[in-house]
Amino acid sequence: MKVGIDQIGYFTPNKYVDMVDLAHARNQDPNKFLIGIGQSKMSVADATQDTVSMGINATLRYLNKINKSKVGLLIFGTESSVDQSKSGSLFVKSALKLDPSVRAFEVKEACFGLTAGLMIAQDFVRLHPDQTAIVIGSDIARYGLKTAGEVTQGAGSVSLLISSNPRILELNEGHSAYSEDINDFWRPNNSKLAKVDGKYSTQVYLDFFKHTFNDYKEQKNLETRDFAAIVYHLPFTKMGLKANRIAIEGEDEETNARLMDSFTAAKELNANVGNIYTGSLYLSLLSLLENGDLKAGDLTGLFSYGSGAMAEFYSANVVEGYEKQIDKAGDEALLAKRKKLSVDEYERIFSEALEDPKNGVELVSDEDSGKYYFAGIKDDIRQYQAK
Ligand code: CAA
Repeated sequence: MKVGIDQIGYFTPNKYVDMVDLAHARNQDPNKFLIGIGQSKMSVADATQDTVSMGINATLRYLNKINKSKVGLLIFGTESSVDQSKSGSLFVKSALKLDPSVRAFEVKEACFGLTAGLMIAQDFVRLHPDQTAIVIGSDIARYGLKTAGEVTQGAGSVSLLISSNPRILELNEGHSAYSEDINDFWRPNNSKLAKVDGKYSTQVYLDFFKHTFNDYKEQKNLETRDFAAIVYHLPFTKMGLKANRIAIEGEDEETNARLMDSFTAAKELNANVGNIYTGSLYLSLLSLLENGDLKAGDLTGLFSYGSGAMAEFYSANVVEGYEKQIDKAGDEALLAKRKKLSVDEYERIFSEALEDPKNGVELVSDEDSGKYYFAGIKDDIRQYQAK
């Protein structure tokens, strides 16, 4: 039985900072950010967008195309959860009016959360082929103003529908996973800003990539040239570029060109949205599907990484007619409609969003009609509303 990704929806908030403006404000050469880090723009979440509202908005992108009564599982993967106890899934389930019989919970392992959910979901669908699973990755990457990591922030969510007979990607059984208990990135409970050892995290990411990619190829008797494309977790696009260079080292010219071209297609959305932690790999997958040159049956490798650290390499094959399931125009419009912030505006909005609103204060969103937003806290309970 074929199981895989049937739908992909993504959402990013309606404001951004341009990396050239940020570079000037931080007395850096813009090419360091544009080329050295590989980021062009960064989405900014104001106080009215959080991981729950973004996850609802990402899922709404495809909800009217699916049979809601078949959804048996709803997993929410996040690093930037809104509650220490209740899962984001329950807020999402309520907004989307899913059946009370759905199994809903949240998972955490830094940027690996969506992949963890996807792996659980594919097992669930293999056992329950008449049911489907929604898996959401939703995050706001915050390192802090004027930090080295500032240029690698971002905000957004990706939602996947996992089903039997999927219309976008068929997941291949098997994977290569690798983990170690290390401290490359973490966020203590009392902090809204992540702590990171950036250079160390890059090194571990590349080591884990080599390990899982080589192990996967060995397990499956595959060569690098068998892959039409490889997509990577992209906290910033230069990190994936470094992994891709490792993947193509010593390969023939044709393989080199193909995997470099597919990487270029796969980084487009990420370079303009920034790091969305759990959703980053799947935003890159969407970017590849929209901007790359894939044919039915093409083998795509996926490398997932979550600091702390946990990595997994797996693969999938492209399904005939996948492009009909993807809303490229809608995805481009989401980016085109964003308002450009000055660095001063960004700093103010960033700082405001770090504070929870006072009980009873109603927040007003400037998102488009129909979009969900965080409307404030009433009696200590978070309120979500559609605009
Ligand atoms: N033109 C072109 N390139 C330039 C340049 C210029 N003028 N000036 C510098 N560069 C290049 C440098 O040569 C360097 O390239 P290489 O990496 O190829 O050597 C690159 O720009 C960056 O320069 P620096 O290393 O000097 O930059 P920095 O000290 O400011 O740090 C960073 C960069 C380490 C990426 C920092 O931004 C950071 O710590 N970011 C966060 C790290 C991160 O995201 N880690 C991922 C963790 S995984 C994750 O997503 C978390 C999770 O699991 C939830």
